[in-house]
Amino acid sequence: MGNDTGKVDVNKEHTRDGLVKILHDFRDAPISGEELGEKLGVSRAAVNSHINQLREMGYVIDAATKTGYRLVSVPDRLLPVELRVRLDDLGAADACIGCEIHYFPKLESTNDTAKAIAPDVHDGTVVIAEMQTKGRGRLGRAWMSPEGGIWLSVVLKPKIAPQDAAKLTLMAGIAVAYTMREFDIPAEIKWPNDILVNGKKVCGILTEMSSEADVMEYAVLGIGIDANVDTQKFPLEAKVSATSMQAELGHPVDRLEFTAKLLIRLNEEYARFEKAFVDGEIRAFDAMLDEWKSLSDTIGRVVTIQMRTKIISGEAAGIDHNGALIVETDGGIERVFAGDCVYTR
Ligand code: BTN
Repeated sequence: MGNDTGKVDVNKEHTRDGLVKILHDFRDAPISGEELGEKLGVSRAAVNSHINQLREMGYVIDAATKTGYRLVSVPDRLLPVELRVRLDDLGAADACIGCEIHYFPKLESTNDTAKAIAPDVHDGTVVIAEMQTKGRGRLGRAWMSPEGGIWLSVVLKPKIAPQDAAKLTLMAGIAVAYTMREFDIPAEIKWPNDILVNGKKVCGILTEMSSEADVMEYAVLGIGIDANVDTQKFPLEAKVSATSMQAELGHPVDRLEFTAKLLIRLNEEYARFEKAFVDGEIRAFDAMLDEWKSLSDTIGRVVTIQMRTKIISGEAAGIDHNGALIVETDGGIERVFAGDCVYTR
């Protein structure tokens, strides 16, 4: 985050993040300003000033003259240092996904920012915003992204052919659905990229990529989750077709915990994906497809799919090795890689 001049003081930010980590370690027993200063290599006055900054950011920190500082609660913000604390606690300190986390209170679109920085960042870099002003969905649609949601994009650089990019969307769907189920939300995947709960959309995934000749340079996996978004504020048509995790659970979700667990799931699925397409162990993708099928509510449905040049209808019979949906139409079998899918029965 920037200061008044828009510049980021890396040293100060580093010290403040260090302070947050120590306060987490000492959650059960207060720690004195002196000890904090020693651990961080700064004066007590500097500790005090950082504590005040953290309070301004929404941290609640108790201070008692004799015992010292104690972290009471953290702000409901997807701050990198808070995600890092949770990733470390969950044993994912060295995970590829989330190796770098770029955080913004507000962005036009995390996918656009991720694409802009993609050439210069590591595989697995994450861009997160608390809200987006020009969030994008598939087929050029606008994606409403107010505060309370989880709007993030992951830069991926697997050494795969551009035509395998759609499989990354399947991979992300598996990771999101599993994470929601960990939170007791009965999520299902609607081909190709929607996550539904009780028939209503709670998450959308937008994969975009840049390729050179036959090689993908990078893909940007954009994930938009209506976590604690107020469904009463949805536009009329979305009120019937969309929901939020909060509305389904009847209480808000801990967005930090959810996001950390999602990054870990994505990391696991990405490792499997790379095993299949980079190491050539194609069976690893078969296992992923089986999981996708078991998480999906599309197979067995009668669907109508609007593609770029035509519309088809028929029964969704399965998903093939390339990640294409197999549709049994009156005119024969169709394999569909991309399109807008509506359940007709
Ligand atoms: C869809 O279902 O149409 C896909 C929606 C994808 C929305 C996410 S939110 C984070 C990322 N940034 C964007 O502008 N879009 C994706």
